[in-house]
Amino acid sequence: AEPLRVGIAGLGTVGAAVVGLLQRHAAAIAMRAGREIRLTAVSARDRARDRGVDISAAEWHDDPVALARSGRVDCVIELIGGTEGRAKAAVEAALEAGKPVVTANKAMLARHGAALAALAEARGAALAFEASVAGGIPIVKTLRESLAGNEVSRVSGILNGTCNYILSRMEMEGLSFADVLADAQRLGYAEADPTFDVGGFDTAHKLAILTSLAFGTQIDADAIHVEGISAITPLDLAMAAELGYRIKLLGVAERTPSGIEQRVHPTMVPRSWPIAQVMGVTNAVNVHGDAVGELTLVGPGAGGAATASSVLSDLVDVARGARVLPFGRPAAMLESAERQPMQR
Ligand code: NDP
Ligand code: HSE
Repeated sequence: AEPLRVGIAGLGTVGAAVVGLLQRHAAAIAMRAGREIRLTAVSARDRARDRGVDISAAEWHDDPVALARSGRVDCVIELIGGTEGRAKAAVEAALEAGKPVVTANKAMLARHGAALAALAEARGAALAFEASVAGGIPIVKTLRESLAGNEVSRVSGILNGTCNYILSRMEMEGLSFADVLADAQRLGYAEADPTFDVGGFDTAHKLAILTSLAFGTQIDADAIHVEGISAITPLDLAMAAELGYRIKLLGVAERTPSGIEQRVHPTMVPRSWPIAQVMGVTNAVNVHGDAVGELTLVGPGAGGAATASSVLSDLVDVARGARVLPFGRPAAMLESAERQPMQR
């Protein structure tokens, strides 16, 4: 079979890790994909920056939209970030041209997911986003494919690695919020604007995606009640510990008699519960399905290599010609969820 010629837009924490993984496991990936996956083009802002990976054979583009339109690119991996601007323009340009897109950009999907899914379906192109939720945990595929025979009543969990890392180190080492956040940024866990993490918005973006997958509803990030962790102090964590609790930032979406309730907020969790044991950058996603019962996936929620692992799983699907619907049902059939105020 012909090689799949891939263009990567964005060569930061995740983009550089994807290039590295593609090169390190080229033979195994080709075997799993049924054909060679060849990096033919890249795009970032600073051409001179050393990214620690070999991109010398790839065509360089200052503009990711030009990369998306390049005749040497069959599939675009968008790893720039941001809801508008060049990331969205590049994704639209690729889909318009009928080229499959793999993205980790949950902020863009939370805002424009339904429209992008409709465009992808209209052009017969794949739109794949395993890496957009919970880093290395395969929760998108789990909901869309493995649990397709279930009616899901609840999906919840720790969906932001940066916040869980901050809360864990503040509690265990008594460090200040600002010091731990700086570490999370240095390790490549945090968003370019870390307000998205600590303000709870990144968790809300991921929850909006999970809600759409689990309940077949239109993505509606504005319907989510959001509270972040910026006001949590070491004293709060110590007091919770004394009472036998840990504070976790949870995202919860559940079916209620009057609609789907979605919320993100710091939660006191009894220390004996499994989710209270999830520490550091690790995420955990819990799903209730009527057939399967309850299951929980736990794994690395952020970081270059773990996120690249999810990007590669989508890329292998694309190389095999998989045509799965982005949200598990046609975009035109996604229902509007009843907006449900949070119950405390
Ligand atoms: P980084 O900030 O590390 O990298 C962003 C990259 O995009 C950089 O290479 C930057 O170029 C490039 N870029 C920015 N603007 C432009 C532009 N206008 N044209 C071309 N290139 C541009 O981000 P991450 O790798 O951390 O994240 C990428 C995406 O993955 C985001 O959507 C993020 O939310 C998501 N994500 C990140 C995870 C993580 O753990 N970091 C986990 C899961 C998802 P330059 O290097 O030259 O500045
Ligand atoms: N900033 C995000 C987090 C990256 O910390 O979870 C993974 O989506």
